[in-house]
Amino acid sequence: MKKTTKLLTMALAMIMAACTLTACGGGAGKGDTITFGTNAEFPPFEYVTSNGVIGEYDGIDMAIAKQIAEESGMTAAVENMEFDSLLVALQNGQIDAVIAGMTATDERRETVDFSTTYYTATQVMIVKEDSDIAAATDMADKKICVVQGYTGEICVQDMGYTYEAFKKGTEAVMELVNGKCDVVVIDSATAQKYVGDNEGLKIVEDAGAFESEEYAIAVQKGNTELLDKINKAIDKMLADGTINELAVKYTEEATAE
Ligand code: ARG
Repeated sequence: MKKTTKLLTMALAMIMAACTLTACGGGAGKGDTITFGTNAEFPPFEYVTSNGVIGEYDGIDMAIAKQIAEESGMTAAVENMEFDSLLVALQNGQIDAVIAGMTATDERRETVDFSTTYYTATQVMIVKEDSDIAAATDMADKKICVVQGYTGEICVQDMGYTYEAFKKGTEAVMELVNGKCDVVVIDSATAQKYVGDNEGLKIVEDAGAFESEEYAIAVQKGNTELLDKINKAIDKMLADGTINELAVKYTEEATAE
């Protein structure tokens, strides 16, 4: 009888240990899956395609997400949603992390924790080839288009200009192509992609007006278990050149017709 009790206790202890190991009851990822939230409207970082690296999702971020999960012996899943909903979904626990070409701003740092920076970008202006806009101040009397909730919107807001905000980058660019606006303010690599895809557009940079922006992965505040896994994988991918290679690969792919 005594022996049985002991065995039972041992069995229970083992079950509990196994439970901790697989992180039952939340923590970093549900079971062996890390669910990444993204907004797949941001080439070359994330976009929908027929055959992506994670299901129908492809891009620099998606390849990074996949590798982060693999390095941790887990699987990556993606939930695609509006950019504005990402941080709320993260706080609700609907997703484990956000990878979305997201700039780690001080304001966002108030609600979530960010990983190591994996990419540095800046805002640029997309204009028609014959535009006389040469600096950010030239936008003062122009029709400006931005994407809702992106740092580009915040920049233009801070400059005190009026603007129109669209849900998607492609919508803002179409406005420009159709001559309904004069300039689109958006992240550099994505701008490059749009200029490659549409005739008659060019990029105008203004390093004095637009600060550099650091893309990082967001996790719930205090989720150090997952953040450590993410940082470890990012550090490795930065050191061995993987992220560089991905950036080159997807930038070329994005502009090739
Ligand atoms: N870097 C900008 C920001 O953080 C734009 C990111 C847009 N990303 C996306 N997946 N739609 O606000």
